[in-house]
This record gives sequence, C-alpha cells and structure tokens, in this order.
Amino acid sequence: MSRKKIAILISGRGSNMGALISAAMDPSFPAEISLVLSNRPDAKGLQRAQDFGIPTAVVDHKDFGGDREAFEKSVDEILKANKIDIVVLAGFMRILSPYLVNAWAGRMINIHPALLPSFKGLATHERALEEGVKLHGATVHFVSAEMDDGPIIIQGAVPVLDHDTPDSLAARVLGVEHKIYPKALELVASGKAKVKGGTKVTTGDTAEATAPLIWP
Ligand code: GAR
Repeated sequence: MSRKKIAILISGRGSNMGALISAAMDPSFPAEISLVLSNRPDAKGLQRAQDFGIPTAVVDHKDFGGDREAFEKSVDEILKANKIDIVVLAGFMRILSPYLVNAWAGRMINIHPALLPSFKGLATHERALEEGVKLHGATVHFVSAEMDDGPIIIQGAVPVLDHDTPDSLAARVLGVEHKIYPKALELVASGKAKVKGGTKVTTGDTAEATAPLIWP
C-alpha cells in the first residue's frame, strides 16, 4: 500500500494536527504527514510539527496585501512541489477562494467545531449554548466553495450540560475532534469515503464502528 502524502494547514496551536500526526505514526495508517503549512509565522503548531521532525512552511497572508488568489497560488505551489495528495485544514482560519477549493476539489477536508449544517462560522460553542441545544459536536467534511459547507464525512457528538461555559463545551468538543479527524483522514486516504451525487459521502462503516464517535 502506498501511503497518501498529506499537508496539514494550520493557523494556531495545532492540537488537531497533533492528533493526526500521532495517528499517522502507525505504519498501517494509509497516510503520512509530509508537510505542515501555516499562514501565521507565530502559529504554535509549527514548533510542535518540527518537534515531530515534520517539514514546515509559512505563507504569511499579510505579505499579499489582501490579494487572496495570489496568497493561494503561493500555497498551491508549495503543495505541488511537495507532491501532496490530500490537504487537511486543521484550524486554518482563512476563507478560501474558489481558486484553491477548485484546485483541490475532492482532495481537501476541513474540521468544524459544530454539527453542520448548524452553527457555521465562528463562536460555535457560544451560539450552541445560546440556542439551548442538547447535543453539539464536530464535523469533518470535504471543502466546497461555501464556508463550512461540503459533503460530510464524519461527525462526533457530545452532550451540552447545564453548567457548561463556552470553554468547557469547547474542551469536550475538542476531545471528539481529536477522535474523528484521524478517522476521517483514514476513510479519505484509503478511498473508503466516496462522494455520491455531489452532496453525500458513503463510508461503508457499521453502527458498531461509529458508536464511539458519540461522546467517546
Ligand atoms: C478547532 O476547534 C477547529 O475545529 C476549529 O479551530 C480549532 C483549531 O484548534 N476550526 C474552525 O473553527 C474552522 N471553521 P487546533 O489548532 O488546536 O486544532
């Protein structure tokens, strides 16, 4: 089996990146983390990646004076030069233009801290508490041109408890993120996650296999 070459794009601390790197240390995992790229030179995750011996790159969006496509072209060149197969967005806080989304259609995935299609955008935990939902969670999806949209690969759910604050809820959701992102990457890299009709993803997973995704 040839392992797929992965680039993880980050903007911050990179805890999801860390979970993906750990999963990919297993030689039977169908993907290897070949590159970590950040749009922020000060992203904490860069040092963390280097500690694991993973090559890193920085493309600072501020160097492009608001020209989104020029920024993305520069990112794309680095991805191509590293012969990347799949791009994984892990807390990459830039809205992507159709340029990069189309270039990587079907080969770019994202994690969002909510049960999509609820709570797209920012401050998802605050809004979940305001709405009084009893279940919250995280979603991994293929990236499409709309923000926090695209065929859903996997979701993980956690309860919302009476005493929750945005921080306590975020911490519970982050636990589920670290579980579902490696699983989603495995499904995509192995070819088990297939997009049907442009909107839905089938994975062939059983109820037993997905049960641990509920408040693991
Ligand atoms: C994660 O909670 C991720 O779901 C979220 O940013 C955090 C990054 O944390 N992403 C988004 O909100 C994207 N819409 P991390 O750097 O520790 O992985």
